[in-house]
Amino acid sequence: MEILPTGGGLGAQVCGVDLRHIGDSGFAEIRQAWFDNLVLLFRGQTLTDAELIVFSKRFGALDLAPIQETGRRFVDGLPELYVVSNVMKNGEPIGSLGSGDAVWHTDMSYLPEPPKASLLYALEIPPTGGDTGFINMYSVYEALPDRLKQRIAGVRIKHDGTYNSGGYVRQGVTATDDPRAAPGEYHPLVCTHPDTGRRMLYLGRRRNAYLENLDLAESEALLDELWSYCDRDDFAWYNRWKVGDLVLWDNRCTMHRRDSFDPNSRRVMHRTQVKGVSPPAA
Ligand code: SIN
Repeated sequence: MEILPTGGGLGAQVCGVDLRHIGDSGFAEIRQAWFDNLVLLFRGQTLTDAELIVFSKRFGALDLAPIQETGRRFVDGLPELYVVSNVMKNGEPIGSLGSGDAVWHTDMSYLPEPPKASLLYALEIPPTGGDTGFINMYSVYEALPDRLKQRIAGVRIKHDGTYNSGGYVRQGVTATDDPRAAPGEYHPLVCTHPDTGRRMLYLGRRRNAYLENLDLAESEALLDELWSYCDRDDFAWYNRWKVGDLVLWDNRCTMHRRDSFDPNSRRVMHRTQVKGVSPPAA
């Protein structure tokens, strides 16, 4: 096994592994590389859904997939599997997020215990577009000036449960654009990573975010200031997908986004998520 850092702000490619056949020492190496690099790319994999689930479970118990915009869970008999796709079948999308941009976000951080890991496997990809970017939230926290670090110590942030990263309203939710009234979960704005012990900024997503006990205008201004530190190419890395890519990311200390792509082309990705814990305050 060879671990090749991407040269970007996070991420490494793991070469020389077939994820269907990983022994305990190989898995320990992958787990450590994941803590060190935050995002791992495995190219050239040939996984069935069942094999994707078996590999994902090496990291812990899996979450059930969130409910799709149409109200369905995705794959009959495999409730852990979430489909990200623009493909339509019998007039209905087979998956979520369409073909537009998906904004920077952390998966399912509107829940009390967001997943610790996400694994996304590429089955069909468009000829261009649809790249997925990741950003290192340890680096974002470390880049904040001391004044800002002191300002946000002990502050909690509401992670919105109204909209998904494609801008679609989640199933069963009444749309609102008042961050104070929106459904969601409060988490510490600065968290300690439960496995590495490092501090990270835990922003979740920008839309409908709200800083507890602040005036809305004050919350918006402080959030805008914090988000301005995420606009750093040197903290990021993008995967240009190939069929057979499996990308594993740490959903606690990274955010991700997706570029749009031609809606007439097909993109089909299968995703699993590993259960996490309530994000610990720093
Ligand atoms: C996601 O946000 O989980 C999906 C990202 C992608 O479509 O590449």
